[in-house]
Amino acid sequence: MKDQAHTLRKLFEKGTAHPQPKVLSVTSGKGGVGKTTLVINMAIMLASKGHRVLVFDADLGLANVDVMLGLTPKRTIKHVLDGQCPLEDIMVKGPEGIQVIPASSGIQELVDLSPQQQLSLMNSLDYFNHDIDYMIIDTGAGISRNVMYFNAAAQRVIVVVSAEPTSITDAYALIKVLWKKHGVKQFDLIVNNVISKMEGDQVAGKLMMVCERFLGDVALEMLGSVPHDETITECIKGQKAFVGVNPNGETALRLGRIVKRLEKSSRLQTNGNLQFFLRRMLLHQMKGSDHAGYRIHGTY
Ligand SMILES: Nc1ncnc2c1ncn2[C@@H]1O[C@H](COP(=O)(O)OP(=O)(O)OP(=O)(O)O)[C@@H](O)[C@H]1O
Ligand SMILES: [Mg+2]
Repeated sequence: MKDQAHTLRKLFEKGTAHPQPKVLSVTSGKGGVGKTTLVINMAIMLASKGHRVLVFDADLGLANVDVMLGLTPKRTIKHVLDGQCPLEDIMVKGPEGIQVIPASSGIQELVDLSPQQQLSLMNSLDYFNHDIDYMIIDTGAGISRNVMYFNAAAQRVIVVVSAEPTSITDAYALIKVLWKKHGVKQFDLIVNNVISKMEGDQVAGKLMMVCERFLGDVALEMLGSVPHDETITECIKGQKAFVGVNPNGETALRLGRIVKRLEKSSRLQTNGNLQFFLRRMLLHQMKGSDHAGYRIHGTY
């Protein structure tokens, strides 16, 4: 009895001292719908509430996060993968203390790395396991293998969509592939760039309807919609995060509600940590599914 209580106490202590980070991916079928904008602003909002946030720019071909924040990393993930420095050396600090792992242009797909490189990245990430509360992955658009693996490994997949019809059909195609090939059944949804809340709800309704009709047990949770706001573009041009510039505007309030929903919801796809996240990547690779070149349009 004493032993059991001791073990439980130890487990509890361990749990409170080192809660596992939540790994969220932010993704889209069509490009340019606002993923990076949302990742940065959600990360800053979470950090301003006291959470320790790590942003992983996994858009490996077209690194964006550092550019949008006006950060100038001297080294990128490429240096880590080449064994030139540890992961902590490439991290850059953004507003509110968010940490950013910068991507690099022209690097090969993470899933094509040698087992040695994958293992070393896995160990490096695990090193930070106890130091962060949220890891937000900006995946890049489409259904390339990289995007698929990051989404399959994350604990929550946040699909960003706009009101454009192609954005909706491409989001559906992405969800379909993740469901069919990777067994992802639950998705979060953010409708970005809307002219009204009603437009956001209509877009979400359409997507939910086709998923329910054609994809059986897929569940979509609407996190909220974000208005079209010229200030966002101005901020990006000025390499500033939007929430810091206009914290009381409608857009920031709506983003705030989305972040609150994320904080409150305990639904997670897996119980994994960062190491687990990469283990899943390896596992998927070993299974050998390959969707590179999958046609994204018109897959209803
Ligand atoms: N709510 C919004 N209102 C107005 N403009 C927006 C909004 N959200 C994003 N934008 C603009 O849309 C453009 C694309 O945004 P962003 O780069 O975040 O998209 P993305 O999905 O990350 O693109 P990519 O697929 O190329 O990585 C940017 O110029 C940004 O300023
Ligand atoms: Mg982007």
